[in-house]
Amino acid sequence: MNGEKIIDGVYWVGAIDWNVRNFHGYCTPKGTTYNAYLIVGDKNILVDTVKKPFLNELLERIRSIIDPQDIDLIVSNHTEMDHSGCLPELQAITGATVLASKKGVEGLKMHFPDLKTEEVKDGQEIKCGNKTLKFIDTPMLHWPDSMFTYIPEDGLLFSMDAFGQHYAVSKRFNDEVDQAVLYQEAAKYYANIITPFSARVLKTLEKAKDLDIKILATSHGVIWRTDLDKITALYAQWASNNTPQKAIIIYDSMWGSTGIMAKDIAEGIAAEGVTVEVLKLTETDRSEAMARILTSRAVIIGTPTLNNNMFPTVADMAVYMKGLRPKGRIGAAFGSYGWAGGAVKDLQAVMKDGGLEMPFEPLEVQYVPDAAARQKCFEFGREIALKIKAQ
Ligand code: FEO
Repeated sequence: MNGEKIIDGVYWVGAIDWNVRNFHGYCTPKGTTYNAYLIVGDKNILVDTVKKPFLNELLERIRSIIDPQDIDLIVSNHTEMDHSGCLPELQAITGATVLASKKGVEGLKMHFPDLKTEEVKDGQEIKCGNKTLKFIDTPMLHWPDSMFTYIPEDGLLFSMDAFGQHYAVSKRFNDEVDQAVLYQEAAKYYANIITPFSARVLKTLEKAKDLDIKILATSHGVIWRTDLDKITALYAQWASNNTPQKAIIIYDSMWGSTGIMAKDIAEGIAAEGVTVEVLKLTETDRSEAMARILTSRAVIIGTPTLNNNMFPTVADMAVYMKGLRPKGRIGAAFGSYGWAGGAVKDLQAVMKDGGLEMPFEPLEVQYVPDAAARQKCFEFGREIALKIKAQ
């Protein structure tokens, strides 16, 4: 396995994880990559490592360019173990100090107490031969320790988790891959990783606007060397919760009643000319549902009552979404119950806690929806559509 040249003096030496299908609860049907980079010159610098099981792949790719022992410095842009997992091994081989942000040094010490580290400050520059490394703190993208590293001579920004995609592919650049898959995976990644930090995204875009950036070298997926305006505009749009007039209905059903409600609510929304899609959670993973929420102005969730609680798949979805806190969206809850309800009220509360605006009383139906109940569902959908259109 070889390293791949990104520009003169900078190589990709990461790992391709073709088979990962679950990335801390995020379903990754296309796998992912852990991107590490090697800058070679008067000083040889490794920017990040890879997840621990991929150590040999990293070393093999480095060896195709230089002897790993010749690495002088290591930069750790982010403490999460998919990027820092091999730091002790690389330090043992190279003796190189690991540069990280203040929070990065603190985090690394908690994972690896014996690691030799040095703090770099926001805006600090170090000259390495013919290249300058400038460090830019980007807290919460995606952890408090995160930072970008920028090479002004090349307009190359190592953007860490930002602008990434969980997309294992044999090509390294954005213009070499299927564009539909690329943007779908970039959106899914934003929805499942970056959403809670949208305010930080806007601040970071502002902070980076004066940098002359020609390449965004992310830590997952392909590297952006064209269409930088497009992906940064999409980040600004997603971070601003600027959504199209679209609704998504996410539900599960035990004996079919909540499913009937979901379809009738969808009919009511569509009758008002608003686009709507419907997902059943036993068929669709939570992270795929989150990707659809990213581009929906209304999120309508339905659950049956099971033992006085939400149906397990819906509870899972609701709590996952609450953690990701998609804001600036309308929410609504509905569902059916047998002899005692409770689930829909709980669902409404979790959705509200997650930051959704909940202007409607939850809609509940006992046992099987009759014609009158189905009409109520249709009208519920129409009301939601009118609210969407009013925004
Ligand atoms: Fe790819 Fe937040 O680590």
